[in-house]
Amino acid sequence: MTEAPGEVALRTEALSKSFGGVHAVNDATTEFYQGRINGLIGPNGSGKTTFFNCVTGMIPPDSGHVYYRDRDITRWQPHRVARAGIGRTFQLCRVFPRLTVLDNLLVAVHPPHPLAYFGRPRVALLVERARDILARVGLDHLETSEARDISYGQQKLLELAAALMANPAMVMLDEPAGGVNPALIERIAVLVTELNAEGTTFLVVEHNMEFIMNLCHHVVVFDRGRPIAAGSAAQVQQDPKVLEAYLGV
Ligand SMILES: Nc1ncnc2c1ncn2[C@@H]1O[C@H](COP(=O)(O)OP(=O)(O)OP(=O)(O)O)[C@@H](O)[C@H]1O
Ligand SMILES: [Mg+2]
Repeated sequence: MTEAPGEVALRTEALSKSFGGVHAVNDATTEFYQGRINGLIGPNGSGKTTFFNCVTGMIPPDSGHVYYRDRDITRWQPHRVARAGIGRTFQLCRVFPRLTVLDNLLVAVHPPHPLAYFGRPRVALLVERARDILARVGLDHLETSEARDISYGQQKLLELAAALMANPAMVMLDEPAGGVNPALIERIAVLVTELNAEGTTFLVVEHNMEFIMNLCHHVVVFDRGRPIAAGSAAQVQQDPKVLEAYLGV
């Protein structure tokens, strides 16, 4: 028996994006659920990152729609998508290498943030918030290190920490476990589980199937730019279309 997935947080309708002749995202109609850890999987080049970029405003889609909590956010600029409550991280980790770990969090907050209207105490408040988040992700002891001097896995945690500064209702992670050692993967998994228990919705792209199987309540599978299966992790794993997409049988 499958648990009902519940209220839809993010929905795309016939979303498409081509690069030249490559249909990176091809007529993708999807649903991801509020308060859940949603997974998006698929073979290399199946359009997962392009889908993320279209949703978060990094790339305008050619056609189709993106709805977040029933608001049409299609073609919104990235900062506006962020203010609507969607945070994200990148497949190729994006931190400011020469800034300290703490400063990476401080620059993640743009003036429109509510704390910006408190004037001088703002900085103290932001620093306090940044330190709380660093403690939460286990990077507090590295506060004064430059981001380029910490490990790749720690940089991924830092990127997640920076995304959390805006207090997003939904967080989109593009391969959080990619290139990260097992101990830090475990820490990322625990963090995602805890934040989700506190109400944060997640959409996670990941090739690490153990990560997806252990964490995700709902999984959508992409092949050549479009969803070919959706359901629980166990369900999609047994779907012949999914096996075909991965194995080419
Ligand atoms: N900026 C771009 N210009 C041209 N082609 C692109 C661009 N971005 C993506 N593509 C192509 O679009 C397709 C989908 O790529 P995308 O990166 O979205 O896949 P992915 O599912 O994230 O793959 P991976 O699992 O390897 O990260 C691929 O064929 C890729 O080569
Ligand atoms: Mg990708």
